[in-house]
Amino acid sequence: MRLVLLGPPGVGKGTQASSIVKKYDIPHISTGDIFRENIKNGTALGITAKEYMDKGLLVPDELVVSIVKDRLSKDDCKEGFLLDGFPRTVEQAEALDSELSQMGIKLDKVVNIDADEDILIERVTGRRICKTCGATYHINNMPPKVEGICDIDQGTLYQRDDDKVETVKTRIQVYLKQTQPLIKYYTDKGLILDVDGTRPIDEVFKTIVDSLPTVH
Ligand code: AP5
Ligand code: MG
Ligand code: ZN
Repeated sequence: MRLVLLGPPGVGKGTQASSIVKKYDIPHISTGDIFRENIKNGTALGITAKEYMDKGLLVPDELVVSIVKDRLSKDDCKEGFLLDGFPRTVEQAEALDSELSQMGIKLDKVVNIDADEDILIERVTGRRICKTCGATYHINNMPPKVEGICDIDQGTLYQRDDDKVETVKTRIQVYLKQTQPLIKYYTDKGLILDVDGTRPIDEVFKTIVDSLPTVH
């Protein structure tokens, strides 16, 4: 299964991605997670990416594209993959198309999850993430058993630097301007699967799985 998850900040891409990759046993490739890992490790890539991310802006296409190309060439992507948060511009989508065609493969679906801005802001500002394992919680919608502590490994929960209300608003504007045109791009290719992201997490997951091609 070769999938792209498209949608605005906080709509639930990462949340759905973790269930989808388990079900189909494919790698979860989140460009945002790759950048955050590099920031944590203080790499040159991380230092550059942070400048853009903290402002809510997109990291330049050429940087993102080379990371994804490199990642897709790894052995674990042979049977499929899920791209979460990539592509985010028409230029990135075109670069992905040309890379996939060189590899002789095609996307199966582009899952487009959507919700209104007030829901997105509520989700992003209530999000908490485990420092140790990256598990995602929400203070109201998906609270951990003990406040501030991960259920899985007792790691400390934190808020992302770019999850402040003002930065989230910028990220939504950037999404509308630079990423939303991809809905038409992939609709024209017959690949879009529209999903209502306002529904509960398990319902969204069921809708996605029910609409994906059956794997043999
Ligand atoms: P990235 O990390 O991809 O952030 P994003 O796209 O803004 O999306 P989020 O991760 O914030 O939200 P999500 O949709 O994953 O929601 P989640 O499942 O966590 O990118 C960050 C930055 O990196 C970008 O701004 C950019 O600078 C850079 N970058 C990344 N990729 C790039 C690219 N390709 N090109 C250029 N720059 C790039 O859910 C949110 C919360 O809601 C959670 O608390 C969750 O528990 C809760 N929740 C989820 N679903 C539901 C539901 N159905 N009902 C109730 N609550 C829910
Ligand atoms: Mg995410
Ligand atoms: Zn954890």
